[in-house]
Amino acid sequence: MQTSHSEKIHSILETAFMTPSSATDPALVQHQLRGNVLVVTIDHAPVNALNAAVRRGLIDAIEAADGNASVRAVLIVGAGRNFIAGADIREFGKPAVPPSLPDVCNRIEACSKPVVAAIHGAALGGGLEVALASHYRIAFEGAKLGLPEVQLGLLPGAGGTQRTPRLIGAQAALSLMLSGRHVGAQEALRTGLVDRVGHSDDVLTEGLAYAHELIATRAAPRRTRSAPGLADKEASTAAIAAARADTQKKARGLLSPLKIVDCVEAALNLPFDEGLQFERAQFLECRESPQRAGLVHAFFAEREAQKAPETRDARARALHAVGVIGGGTMGAGIAVALLDAGFIVTMIERDDASLARGRAHVEKVYDGLIAKGRLNDEAKARAMQRFSGDTSYDALADADLVIEAVFEDMAVKKAVFAELDRVCKQGAVLATNTSYLDIDELAASISRPQDVLGLHFFSPANIMKLLEIVVPARVAAEVVATGFELAKKLKKVAVRAGVCDGFIGNRMLAVYRAAADHLMEDGASPYQIDRAVRDFGFPMGPYQVIDLAGGDIGWAARKRRAASRDPNARYVRIGDELCERGWFGQKTGRGFYRYEDGARIGKPDSEVEAIIDAERARAGITLRTFDDAQIVRRYLAAMINEGANIVHEGIALRPLDVDATLMHGFGFPRHRGGPMHYADSVGLDRVLADIREFAQEDPLFWRASPLIERLVASGKNFASLNQAA
Ligand code: 3HC
Ligand code: NAI
Repeated sequence: MQTSHSEKIHSILETAFMTPSSATDPALVQHQLRGNVLVVTIDHAPVNALNAAVRRGLIDAIEAADGNASVRAVLIVGAGRNFIAGADIREFGKPAVPPSLPDVCNRIEACSKPVVAAIHGAALGGGLEVALASHYRIAFEGAKLGLPEVQLGLLPGAGGTQRTPRLIGAQAALSLMLSGRHVGAQEALRTGLVDRVGHSDDVLTEGLAYAHELIATRAAPRRTRSAPGLADKEASTAAIAAARADTQKKARGLLSPLKIVDCVEAALNLPFDEGLQFERAQFLECRESPQRAGLVHAFFAEREAQKAPETRDARARALHAVGVIGGGTMGAGIAVALLDAGFIVTMIERDDASLARGRAHVEKVYDGLIAKGRLNDEAKARAMQRFSGDTSYDALADADLVIEAVFEDMAVKKAVFAELDRVCKQGAVLATNTSYLDIDELAASISRPQDVLGLHFFSPANIMKLLEIVVPARVAAEVVATGFELAKKLKKVAVRAGVCDGFIGNRMLAVYRAAADHLMEDGASPYQIDRAVRDFGFPMGPYQVIDLAGGDIGWAARKRRAASRDPNARYVRIGDELCERGWFGQKTGRGFYRYEDGARIGKPDSEVEAIIDAERARAGITLRTFDDAQIVRRYLAAMINEGANIVHEGIALRPLDVDATLMHGFGFPRHRGGPMHYADSVGLDRVLADIREFAQEDPLFWRASPLIERLVASGKNFASLNQAA
């Protein structure tokens, strides 16, 4: 549908009688008289975002409609694949250029001729607000309508908070605006957001037919500001109160959700124009907030991260059949992620018993979803039809990609790769899910290092969004491009990483966890540290995460590294002490917290505090107190400093890749934009001053990254590095 619509619109734009709507940027909005309907086409690739020229063009088009007696109706359409994706996010943070979007919407609504919005693809944020200001709406199958501003730290600021509840009622409007979710054409029709659903693939013809129908029935402009959706005051008041109570519980320090509720309350209690003014004031406050800046940075960071140089220079190989080696925690999760994306999956395990366990792990994931009502038995059966298992590597002869997830042991992995080298067809991509091991060494152990790639998933692999694409020295560009293509199919956020111990995410984790351990040994309790980190916006503190993942995993890694550890480096033994007692966290009922009767939320444990005290005494520590802000400063400074080292060494391409990694794999609060964006927002010079201050106590651990020193010396920030790929 989209191509044909887009071709048609472009062919119209090439015909005569075209009027450029704006002297400054004539191509972005065109209007053309088709009989007695003025067709207004927004043509601002890639998503018809409402930048200043588009806003101006829309006003000019409506002025033209009002000023031309032969125009009996106006039809607004989008060129390309979307109606309008919203305000131009790239304009936020820059000086505002008139006309404002609220003015544009008001002008559309005031038009004296009926205005129809014909919606295909995305009508989001300001895009939906343009449609709501129009008098009639038709949405086509495949359309995505929504007010996702909340995900950018904003609220609908062009009348959306005032018009939506008037059109579809307070409850439905609040649900749309607080979730930011997209609804399809049918749901939009059911809730009253649109008047009809278009079924053809010809948006223009069907939109014109609707406009002609309105002309024929002498339909008048129908202004949403006068719609009766808030007529039942009691029901609206109750919906607002319920939304406020729920939002207060869930908003976790976010500014815009409660303001959305306030705006809907204003819609209920104030005349329309006063409600608009109220909305505007709230919108501007959000737009200027650091939360908006963080969330918009997150939006662009996760898109930019997908643009690795190899994806520009090479074409991905075709992927259909995938092999997974190992059916443990990761192998099973990876298999589910692949099955969910429609791949044919063959799992290889060591023996029949392990294979049966691997299959059971996969089924358990689906059964969990069925128990939660998110999946039915048929869907599980359909997915499992594409799953098979084997104990012989020969079953991988036709695989286009194999992902290895066996024990974290170089000898075991080399043996697996030798088998893959033997059985896999030429051109198959051979990937490892190793967390820490040297992939260059692994690649060099077989005859086709150009096909070896790191695909580092995060647990649970079917849920976590992050996929580190680890690029060894000898890999072919098209293999890297295939990794990015796979991530797209799995709907994951891919981040390119170089080979080093821990790649981007785990390498940083090791450092900021060490900073937390130092704080703990110096006097802060793990419970205070967790609370401070949660209050900053992480969903969990570091010790809760250890208890969830299992303390034994880190313990094993520490033991593996013991021989190579710098004997002068500070080493906190508290975690080892707990593990030696078999306290691995939730799975053993005890870790840093106690989990009574299978509880998932732990309680502080006085015995753990006694162990910490004993370790402090053993290490001869002079106890200190830290307030929560001091804890966060150290925790973040360690994270930022290691992130800078990672960029400095070229392990991450840009600071934004570090941000995307921490946000999607490690729970870094999105509204703070990732550690590197956060560092810019507090000031890199302040971060450097902190590191230098902490270095006075422990100069080995706190060594300022050369990148931070260079940036501060030249008055630059991390953002200045985000342009270069
Ligand atoms: N402004 C500027 N650029 C935008 C944009 C926007 N609103 N929406 C998307 N883009 C850009 C992307 O950055 C990307 O640029 P790139 O090619 O240089 O990387 C390009 O458009 C394509 O975007 P996607 O890769 O995301 O393409 P998809 O086809 O996967 O998705 C989409 C399209 C569903 C429209 C998705 O881009 C999206 O969700 N966009 C954001 C929508 C949104 O949040 N709108 C509300 C804006 S705030 C607002 O309107 C305020 C108002 O109330 C006053
Ligand atoms: P696990 O111990 O749960 O599973 C490993 C599986 O591999 C077992 O089922 C075992 O039977 C199988 N296996 C071992 N040798 C094999 C062989 N030669 N052939 C076939 N199968 C074999 O381990 P887990 O946690 O799934 O980790 C696997 C890999 O993923 C490791 O490299 C680990 O570092 C990495 N990883 C782990 C994460 C986690 O959170 N657990 C996160 C990201 C990566």
